[in-house]
Amino acid sequence: MKQVLARRRTTSEAFFSSSASQWDRLREELFGPTSHIKALGGLLDPNLVVGDLGCGTGTVSHWLSQFCERIIAVDASKEMLEAAQENLAGQEHVELRQGSLERLPVETCELDIALLMLVLHHLPEPRRVLAEAARTLKPGGRLLILDMLPHEREDYRQTMGHVWMGFSEKQMTQWLLAAGFEAIRWRALPPETKAKGPSLFVATARRSKLSQDS
Ligand SMILES: C[S@@+](CC[C@H](N)C(=O)[O-])C[C@H]1O[C@@H](n2cnc3c(N)ncnc32)[C@H](O)[C@@H]1O
Repeated sequence: MKQVLARRRTTSEAFFSSSASQWDRLREELFGPTSHIKALGGLLDPNLVVGDLGCGTGTVSHWLSQFCERIIAVDASKEMLEAAQENLAGQEHVELRQGSLERLPVETCELDIALLMLVLHHLPEPRRVLAEAARTLKPGGRLLILDMLPHEREDYRQTMGHVWMGFSEKQMTQWLLAAGFEAIRWRALPPETKAKGPSLFVATARRSKLSQDS
């Protein structure tokens, strides 16, 4: 037994010492480029109620559905929700609701986590949507925004109906504070190798326990 274990250790040590320069490529070849990021969803408390606000075709809800027991996915578009319904078939714990982000079909303090992924740049009044997100979050609940850094792609206004050409940290921080959020964190994300769009940021914030009665 000892000899077998020692032989195995020697084999893996030999593999690691010879493959350091190739490991990143091999890892991606074997398991894909995002396996480690997907695995981090396992850190989420499964009891958390997550709101996927502006869920589109349900890509994010689908991934989260492995880790969370209740997801409320909201979108205004009938077509997007139909696609989401198809993508989320059999995921009974993901509830699709049609409605606007300016007047969310979500109860006050219903959510532990609210996600606004790639949606704020479409909205004429982001401040109103942030205030709605705050209303639907429990005191201390967390908001996560994924969106674009300021960019020059004017054509997106015509081709995709973008209203905002990205957001700066200063602007988003002011809006989040005004909407009753605190503990604001901002990170510019490193560009993905094959991505053609503008660089993204992720902002997280906590709904203040004092900002609203609950
Ligand atoms: C670019 S998609 C992003 C979808 C998804 N969050 C994702 O990351 O793949 C933006 C979504 O926001 C929805 N949307 C835009 N404005 C909205 C509004 N005022 N109320 C509700 N949904 C809205 C659109 O219908 C669309 O599905």
